[in-house]
Amino acid sequence: MLVFPLRNSREMGKSIAKAAKAKLGNLKSDNFPDGEFYIRFLDSVKGKEIILVQSMSPNPNDSLLELYWAGITAKQLGAEKVIGVAPYLAYMRQDKVFNSGEALSNHIMAHLLNTSLDKIVTVDPHLHRIRNLAELFHIERKKITANNDIANYISKKFSAKNTVIIGPDSESSQWAAVIAEKIGFESSIFEKQRHSARNVKVNVVKELAWKGKNVVIVDDIISSGHTMIEAIKTVRKKEAKSVHCICIHGIFAENAHAKMLKAGANTITSCNTIAHKSNKIDLAKTIVENW
Ligand code: R5P
Repeated sequence: MLVFPLRNSREMGKSIAKAAKAKLGNLKSDNFPDGEFYIRFLDSVKGKEIILVQSMSPNPNDSLLELYWAGITAKQLGAEKVIGVAPYLAYMRQDKVFNSGEALSNHIMAHLLNTSLDKIVTVDPHLHRIRNLAELFHIERKKITANNDIANYISKKFSAKNTVIIGPDSESSQWAAVIAEKIGFESSIFEKQRHSARNVKVNVVKELAWKGKNVVIVDDIISSGHTMIEAIKTVRKKEAKSVHCICIHGIFAENAHAKMLKAGANTITSCNTIAHKSNKIDLAKTIVENW
């Protein structure tokens, strides 16, 4: 087995190779002056199982296309099996035609990977209206969850006696409520109305004894940060002692990290599916043990 980290996942690729006790492969990935890709495998892939590691943030379009390019090239070079590990799989949130004429982007992303890979492995893809990766991928697929790693992280840092866990919207209950249940913490899942990409409102459906407690808000993705910011402001008004945000995929678009700190977050922690200074939960071992 050979592991080839692509541009967005140099560190994660190395960690995955180490956890899998596999060799790191050499791949030259460059751009011509006009921006076109130049991809060259410097190690032979013929007859081998190869792992291409590529997170799809930042630059979801380029990173998706780089994975597609590398997958097709590896197949043409005679690789026996081409596995794409996309710790963060982009385009999963456009899972419906919300307005007539729109692209159904999750299907287009999946079409590219169905034709360039033999297997796709990803961590907590945003499954909302699509409930199962089989609805998108006809190649082998594996969905891995970060829930155990996040639960371990929270239980090492906080105590169930003075800490509650929040999910900022109903979809987040598959992480927030499941994690809280695993480690015996109280939890509450908010309701969210999203009026636009940057305009969201959250409502508290179930009240807890917030005053003087540590509040840990858990969501799958932080993108613009507005979901988290509204949740932070809501629990701050309820006189929480401290507020901690944890996500799996930290995109942190448009300076979201700084905005969340300004809104009152004491700490912001992400898993390493997307390289960022907030990465504190390493999922390489979990990925390798479960793929
Ligand atoms: C969507 O429902 C997801 O679970 C996240 O809540 C959402 O992607 C966060 O986006 P943003 O940070 O832009 O509010």
